[in-house]
Amino acid sequence: MDSKIHLYKMSLDERRKNIKELTNLTDEEIAYYNGNLTNIADKMVENVIGTYELPLGIATNFLINGNDYLIPMATEEASVIAAASNAAKMARVKGGFITHTDEPVMIGQIQVINLDDVEIAQIKILKYRKEIIEMANACDATLVKFGGGCKDIEVRKISDNILVVHLLVDCRDAMGANAVNTMTERVKEKIKEITGGDVLLKIISNLAIYRKAYSYAIFDKDTLGGESVVDKILTAYKFAVSDIFRCATHNKGIMNGIDALIIATGNDFRAVEAGAHSYAAMHGYIPLTHYSKDKDGNLVGSIEIPMAVGIIGGATKVHPQARTNLKILNVKSAGELAEVAASLGLAQNLAALKALSTEGIQRGHMELHARNIAISAGVPAETTTRVAEIMIKDRKINMDYAKEIFEKIR
Ligand code: MEV
Repeated sequence: MDSKIHLYKMSLDERRKNIKELTNLTDEEIAYYNGNLTNIADKMVENVIGTYELPLGIATNFLINGNDYLIPMATEEASVIAAASNAAKMARVKGGFITHTDEPVMIGQIQVINLDDVEIAQIKILKYRKEIIEMANACDATLVKFGGGCKDIEVRKISDNILVVHLLVDCRDAMGANAVNTMTERVKEKIKEITGGDVLLKIISNLAIYRKAYSYAIFDKDTLGGESVVDKILTAYKFAVSDIFRCATHNKGIMNGIDALIIATGNDFRAVEAGAHSYAAMHGYIPLTHYSKDKDGNLVGSIEIPMAVGIIGGATKVHPQARTNLKILNVKSAGELAEVAASLGLAQNLAALKALSTEGIQRGHMELHARNIAISAGVPAETTTRVAEIMIKDRKINMDYAKEIFEKIR
């Protein structure tokens, strides 16, 4: 399958037809994109009165570890999907993205309070390490059967009378919150008994430092517009390194891409967001991406980011669109999904830095913005592009002018 498909030149029907054929979707699967999933929503959360839909588009051109990917993205923000596809196209010139992921290990925290002596309590817990691990694993035979489960424990002193026990749980292809939370609750009594303290909170940590995804790509200097553009991008990057106000926006741009994929695959985007920003803040808030120039003057970009995602369990299986999006993406493991997400974040960031350090981002945004204004003004679908073009040319983008143009050209 080739991901270099020009979806932006097609009508919505043509796009659906092409994606259906390219990714072997059934008639039923492609029909899910017409919406109307209220019955399923009613089983997913409480007090349902309907569903809330986001635009779902496909990012193209992604070459990751030599394989092509079509990436479903759910986002309300104009230009995000186009920008990611464009950056992925630039990365292809030098071979695309190269990635890696850690083992899918999440941390379950158990807070132990009212201790007489945290030092002694720590030693006692470590002494019972094997029993605690076995007890945790007894509640998830399936996870253990597939090679996952609690692999180790850590003990951290928080204050003179409080410590926290970490269960390190390999969640395999699941995001793992349920499995981890169940295990923390299961070992509670044992930890209380060992330490003589009281156990309060038992919950997963979203700072998934043991479950990171990594990706890098070389962006050819000529494709970027010359070495002067590479230098501008590096200067833009250094701005984020040295200023937290810029860094917040830099990392937000990365998450524009990642969240859109996380949402499209039914994963918990709040967990991924929390992990990303807390990781960025571990040693003073820093960018999640890194850039340098190679000896030939090309731009080398990389990303390192916690990525707690799954391809089994939760909404990934229950929500028909999430399921179908995973089929389009064609990933075989949670790790592969994490690597695609990291590459997408890097692409999104590169696209933003390039636009910001050259022509600015407003030009690209304007076209879609103008089309949205035309739609809001009641201009029929077949005429919105024409009305938008005139508004941009005349530098007058508002609803009244959209109506005026439509009246003239109808
Ligand atoms: C907008 O949603 C994202 C950007 O602001 C990111 C950035 O500034 O790097 C364009």
